[in-house]
Amino acid sequence: MKRVVVIGAGGHARDTAWHAEEVNRARPTFDVLGFVVSDLTRLSVRDSPVLGDESWIDAHRRELDGLVLGIGSPRVRALVAERLSARFPELEWPSIVHPSVLLDWDTATIGRGVLLGAGVIGTVNVRVEDFAVLNPAVTLGHEAVVGACSVMNHASGISGGTVLEREVLVGTGARVLQYRRVGAGARVGAGAVVTRDVPPGETWVGVPARPLDR
Ligand SMILES: CC(C)(COP(=O)(O)OP(=O)(O)OC[C@H]1O[C@@H](n2cnc3c(N)ncnc32)[C@H](O)[C@@H]1OP(=O)(O)O)[C@@H](O)C(=O)NCCC(=O)NCCS
Repeated sequence: MKRVVVIGAGGHARDTAWHAEEVNRARPTFDVLGFVVSDLTRLSVRDSPVLGDESWIDAHRRELDGLVLGIGSPRVRALVAERLSARFPELEWPSIVHPSVLLDWDTATIGRGVLLGAGVIGTVNVRVEDFAVLNPAVTLGHEAVVGACSVMNHASGISGGTVLEREVLVGTGARVLQYRRVGAGARVGAGAVVTRDVPPGETWVGVPARPLDR
Protein backbone atom coordinates (compact mmCIF):
# COMPACT_ATOMS: atom_id res chain seq x y z
CA MET A 1 0.00 0.00 0.00
CA LYS A 2 1.22 3.48 -0.84
CA ARG A 3 0.81 5.85 2.10
CA VAL A 4 -0.36 9.16 0.64
CA VAL A 5 -1.89 12.47 1.68
CA VAL A 6 -4.17 14.55 -0.52
CA ILE A 7 -3.06 18.17 -1.00
CA GLY A 8 -6.14 20.36 -0.60
CA ALA A 9 -9.37 19.89 1.32
CA GLY A 10 -12.11 21.22 -0.94
CA GLY A 11 -14.49 19.47 -3.32
CA HIS A 12 -11.85 18.28 -5.77
CA ALA A 13 -9.74 16.93 -2.89
CA ARG A 14 -12.69 14.87 -1.65
CA ASP A 15 -13.39 13.65 -5.21
CA THR A 16 -9.74 12.61 -5.49
CA ALA A 17 -9.78 10.71 -2.19
CA TRP A 18 -12.96 8.92 -3.28
CA HIS A 19 -11.26 7.86 -6.52
CA ALA A 20 -8.35 6.44 -4.50
CA GLU A 21 -10.81 4.44 -2.39
CA GLU A 22 -12.47 3.16 -5.56
CA VAL A 23 -9.07 1.94 -6.78
CA ASN A 24 -8.69 0.15 -3.43
CA ARG A 25 -12.01 -1.66 -3.92
CA ALA A 26 -10.57 -3.27 -7.05
CA ARG A 27 -7.02 -3.71 -5.71
CA PRO A 28 -5.73 -2.39 -2.36
CA THR A 29 -3.26 0.32 -3.46
CA PHE A 30 -3.55 3.55 -1.45
CA ASP A 31 -3.55 4.21 2.27
CA VAL A 32 -5.04 7.72 2.27
CA LEU A 33 -3.94 9.25 5.58
CA GLY A 34 -5.92 12.49 5.18
CA PHE A 35 -5.75 15.99 3.74
CA VAL A 36 -3.03 18.64 3.96
CA VAL A 37 -3.62 22.29 3.08
CA SER A 38 -1.22 25.12 2.18
CA ASP A 39 -2.72 27.58 4.61
CA LEU A 40 -4.85 26.45 7.55
CA THR A 41 -6.19 29.99 8.04
CA ARG A 42 -7.91 29.86 4.63
CA LEU A 43 -9.65 26.53 5.23
CA SER A 44 -13.27 26.92 4.20
CA VAL A 45 -14.47 23.30 4.25
CA ARG A 46 -14.30 21.75 7.69
CA ASP A 47 -15.78 18.30 7.12
CA SER A 48 -12.59 16.74 5.72
CA PRO A 49 -10.05 15.13 8.08
CA VAL A 50 -7.35 17.79 7.72
CA LEU A 51 -4.02 16.66 9.16
CA GLY A 52 -2.38 20.09 9.06
CA ASP A 53 -0.50 22.38 6.74
CA GLU A 54 2.61 21.51 4.69
CA SER A 55 4.73 21.42 7.86
CA TRP A 56 2.81 18.20 8.71
CA ILE A 57 4.50 16.58 5.67
CA ASP A 58 7.89 17.72 6.95
CA ALA A 59 7.22 16.17 10.34
CA HIS A 60 5.90 12.87 8.89
CA ARG A 61 7.89 12.46 5.67
CA ARG A 62 9.32 9.10 6.75
CA GLU A 63 5.78 7.74 7.18
CA LEU A 64 4.75 8.75 3.67
CA ASP A 65 5.31 7.31 0.20
CA GLY A 66 3.64 9.94 -1.91
CA LEU A 67 1.50 13.00 -2.45
CA VAL A 68 -1.70 13.38 -4.44
CA LEU A 69 -2.90 16.78 -5.70
CA GLY A 70 -6.52 17.52 -4.78
CA ILE A 71 -6.68 20.92 -6.46
CA GLY A 72 -9.03 21.71 -9.36
CA SER A 73 -7.42 24.88 -10.73
CA PRO A 74 -4.80 24.27 -13.46
CA ARG A 75 -2.57 27.20 -12.44
CA VAL A 76 -2.67 26.34 -8.75
CA ARG A 77 -1.94 22.66 -9.53
CA ALA A 78 1.18 23.75 -11.41
CA LEU A 79 2.41 26.06 -8.64
CA VAL A 80 1.79 23.59 -5.81
CA ALA A 81 3.25 20.61 -7.71
CA GLU A 82 6.40 22.59 -8.46
CA ARG A 83 6.77 23.81 -4.89
CA LEU A 84 6.17 20.44 -3.21
CA SER A 85 8.31 18.48 -5.73
CA ALA A 86 11.23 20.77 -4.88
CA ARG A 87 10.59 20.56 -1.13
CA PHE A 88 9.98 16.79 -0.95
CA PRO A 89 11.95 15.28 -3.86
CA GLU A 90 11.90 11.79 -2.31
CA LEU A 91 8.08 11.56 -2.37
CA GLU A 92 6.26 10.01 -5.33
CA TRP A 93 3.27 11.47 -7.18
CA PRO A 94 1.22 8.36 -8.00
CA SER A 95 -1.49 8.59 -10.64
CA ILE A 96 -5.01 7.53 -9.72
CA VAL A 97 -6.90 5.64 -12.40
CA HIS A 98 -10.49 4.63 -11.67
CA PRO A 99 -11.08 0.94 -12.48
CA SER A 100 -13.78 1.87 -15.03
CA VAL A 101 -11.41 3.90 -17.26
CA LEU A 102 -11.32 2.58 -20.81
CA LEU A 103 -8.25 3.38 -22.93
CA ASP A 104 -5.96 1.53 -25.28
CA TRP A 105 -3.33 0.97 -22.57
CA ASP A 106 -0.82 -0.38 -25.09
CA THR A 107 -0.56 3.01 -26.81
CA ALA A 108 -1.51 5.44 -24.01
CA THR A 109 1.10 7.60 -22.26
CA ILE A 110 0.06 8.68 -18.76
CA GLY A 111 2.27 10.96 -16.66
CA ARG A 112 2.67 11.12 -12.88
CA GLY A 113 0.25 12.80 -10.53
CA VAL A 114 -2.61 12.31 -13.00
CA LEU A 115 -6.25 11.65 -12.07
CA LEU A 116 -8.32 9.63 -14.57
CA GLY A 117 -11.84 9.74 -13.18
CA ALA A 118 -14.72 7.28 -13.27
CA GLY A 119 -16.01 6.56 -16.74
CA VAL A 120 -13.23 8.28 -18.69
CA ILE A 121 -13.09 6.85 -22.19
CA GLY A 122 -10.31 7.32 -24.71
CA THR A 123 -9.16 5.41 -27.73
CA VAL A 124 -5.69 5.00 -29.21
CA ASN A 125 -2.39 6.89 -28.77
CA VAL A 126 -3.65 9.35 -26.17
CA ARG A 127 -1.17 11.29 -24.03
CA VAL A 128 -2.01 12.70 -20.60
CA GLU A 129 0.87 14.71 -19.16
CA ASP A 130 1.95 15.15 -15.53
CA PHE A 131 -0.61 16.44 -13.02
CA ALA A 132 -3.46 16.61 -15.54
CA VAL A 133 -7.01 15.82 -14.37
CA LEU A 134 -9.70 14.08 -16.39
CA ASN A 135 -12.83 14.28 -14.28
CA PRO A 136 -15.61 11.67 -14.59
CA ALA A 137 -17.08 10.91 -18.03
CA VAL A 138 -14.42 12.81 -20.01
CA THR A 139 -13.77 11.50 -23.53
CA LEU A 140 -10.57 11.62 -25.58
CA GLY A 141 -10.28 10.87 -29.28
CA HIS A 142 -7.36 9.17 -31.00
CA GLU A 143 -3.98 10.95 -30.53
CA ALA A 144 -5.52 13.51 -28.18
CA VAL A 145 -3.03 15.27 -25.88
CA VAL A 146 -3.85 16.71 -22.45
CA GLY A 147 -1.01 18.97 -21.35
CA ALA A 148 0.59 19.14 -17.93
CA CYS A 149 -1.68 20.41 -15.14
CA SER A 150 -4.64 20.81 -17.51
CA VAL A 151 -8.07 20.06 -16.05
CA MET A 152 -10.99 18.66 -18.03
CA ASN A 153 -14.22 18.90 -16.06
CA HIS A 154 -17.07 16.39 -16.03
CA ALA A 155 -18.37 15.09 -19.37
CA SER A 156 -16.16 17.33 -21.47
CA GLY A 157 -14.50 15.86 -24.53
CA ILE A 158 -11.75 16.48 -27.02
CA SER A 159 -11.79 14.88 -30.43
CA GLY A 160 -9.09 13.08 -32.37
CA GLY A 161 -5.76 14.85 -32.73
CA THR A 162 -6.72 17.73 -30.44
CA VAL A 163 -3.98 19.21 -28.26
CA LEU A 164 -4.54 20.95 -24.96
CA GLU A 165 -1.31 22.69 -24.03
CA ARG A 166 -0.34 23.00 -20.36
CA GLU A 167 -2.63 24.46 -17.66
CA VAL A 168 -5.75 24.55 -19.81
CA LEU A 169 -9.22 24.41 -18.21
CA VAL A 170 -12.01 22.72 -20.18
CA GLY A 171 -15.36 23.39 -18.51
CA THR A 172 -17.98 20.79 -17.83
CA GLY A 173 -19.72 19.47 -20.94
CA ALA A 174 -17.49 21.44 -23.34
CA ARG A 175 -16.28 19.93 -26.60
CA VAL A 176 -13.18 20.69 -28.64
CA LEU A 177 -13.35 19.56 -32.25
CA GLN A 178 -10.75 17.46 -34.01
CA TYR A 179 -7.19 18.67 -34.57
CA ARG A 180 -7.73 21.96 -32.74
CA ARG A 181 -5.10 23.34 -30.36
CA VAL A 182 -5.93 25.10 -27.10
CA GLY A 183 -3.04 27.29 -25.96
CA ALA A 184 -1.35 27.23 -22.57
CA GLY A 185 -3.40 28.66 -19.73
CA ALA A 186 -6.53 29.10 -21.87
CA ARG A 187 -10.02 28.41 -20.49
CA VAL A 188 -12.91 26.86 -22.40
CA GLY A 189 -16.24 27.64 -20.73
CA ALA A 190 -18.75 25.02 -19.63
CA GLY A 191 -20.87 23.84 -22.54
CA ALA A 192 -18.74 25.48 -25.24
CA VAL A 193 -18.03 23.93 -28.63
CA VAL A 194 -14.56 24.94 -29.83
CA THR A 195 -14.30 24.97 -33.62
CA ARG A 196 -11.06 26.98 -34.01
CA ASP A 197 -7.65 27.10 -32.30
CA VAL A 198 -7.75 28.97 -28.98
CA PRO A 199 -4.75 31.27 -28.34
CA PRO A 200 -2.84 30.90 -25.04
CA GLY A 201 -4.38 32.54 -22.01
CA GLU A 202 -7.75 33.37 -23.60
CA THR A 203 -11.21 32.40 -22.32
CA TRP A 204 -13.67 31.17 -24.94
CA VAL A 205 -17.38 30.44 -24.37
CA GLY A 206 -20.49 29.53 -26.33
CA VAL A 207 -21.51 27.54 -29.40
CA PRO A 208 -19.53 28.01 -31.55
CA ALA A 209 -17.02 29.24 -28.98
CA ARG A 210 -15.80 32.83 -29.18
CA PRO A 211 -13.47 34.87 -26.96
CA LEU A 212 -15.23 36.08 -23.80
CA ASP A 213 -15.92 39.75 -24.35
CA ARG A 214 -14.95 41.55 -21.16
C1 LIG B 1 -15.80 30.49 -18.76
C2 LIG B 1 -15.40 30.64 -17.30
C3 LIG B 1 -14.01 30.05 -17.09
C4 LIG B 1 -15.39 32.13 -17.03
O1 LIG B 1 -15.19 32.38 -15.68
P1 LIG B 1 -15.07 33.91 -15.19
O2 LIG B 1 -13.89 34.56 -15.86
O3 LIG B 1 -15.08 33.88 -13.70
O4 LIG B 1 -16.36 34.60 -15.81
P2 LIG B 1 -17.65 35.20 -15.10
O5 LIG B 1 -18.33 34.18 -14.25
O6 LIG B 1 -17.23 36.50 -14.48
O7 LIG B 1 -18.60 35.49 -16.35
C5 LIG B 1 -18.27 36.50 -17.30
C6 LIG B 1 -19.37 36.49 -18.36
O8 LIG B 1 -19.28 35.28 -19.11
C7 LIG B 1 -20.52 34.58 -19.07
N1 LIG B 1 -20.18 33.15 -18.99
C8 LIG B 1 -19.48 32.54 -18.00
N2 LIG B 1 -19.35 31.24 -18.28
C9 LIG B 1 -19.97 31.01 -19.42
C10 LIG B 1 -20.17 29.85 -20.21
N3 LIG B 1 -19.68 28.68 -19.84
N4 LIG B 1 -20.87 29.96 -21.36
C11 LIG B 1 -21.38 31.17 -21.74
N5 LIG B 1 -21.20 32.32 -21.05
C12 LIG B 1 -20.52 32.24 -19.91
C13 LIG B 1 -21.22 35.08 -17.82
O9 LIG B 1 -22.61 34.92 -17.93
C14 LIG B 1 -20.78 36.51 -17.80
O10 LIG B 1 -21.56 37.23 -18.74
P3 LIG B 1 -22.10 38.73 -18.42
O11 LIG B 1 -20.83 39.54 -18.23
O12 LIG B 1 -22.87 39.05 -19.63
O13 LIG B 1 -22.87 38.61 -17.17
C15 LIG B 1 -16.38 29.92 -16.34
O14 LIG B 1 -17.64 30.55 -16.27
C16 LIG B 1 -16.61 28.46 -16.70
O15 LIG B 1 -17.44 28.09 -17.56
N6 LIG B 1 -15.85 27.59 -15.99
C17 LIG B 1 -16.01 26.17 -16.03
C18 LIG B 1 -16.94 25.75 -14.92
C19 LIG B 1 -17.03 24.26 -14.72
O16 LIG B 1 -16.53 23.45 -15.50
N7 LIG B 1 -17.62 23.86 -13.60
C20 LIG B 1 -17.68 22.48 -13.23
C21 LIG B 1 -16.79 22.21 -12.07
S1 LIG B 1 -16.71 20.47 -11.76
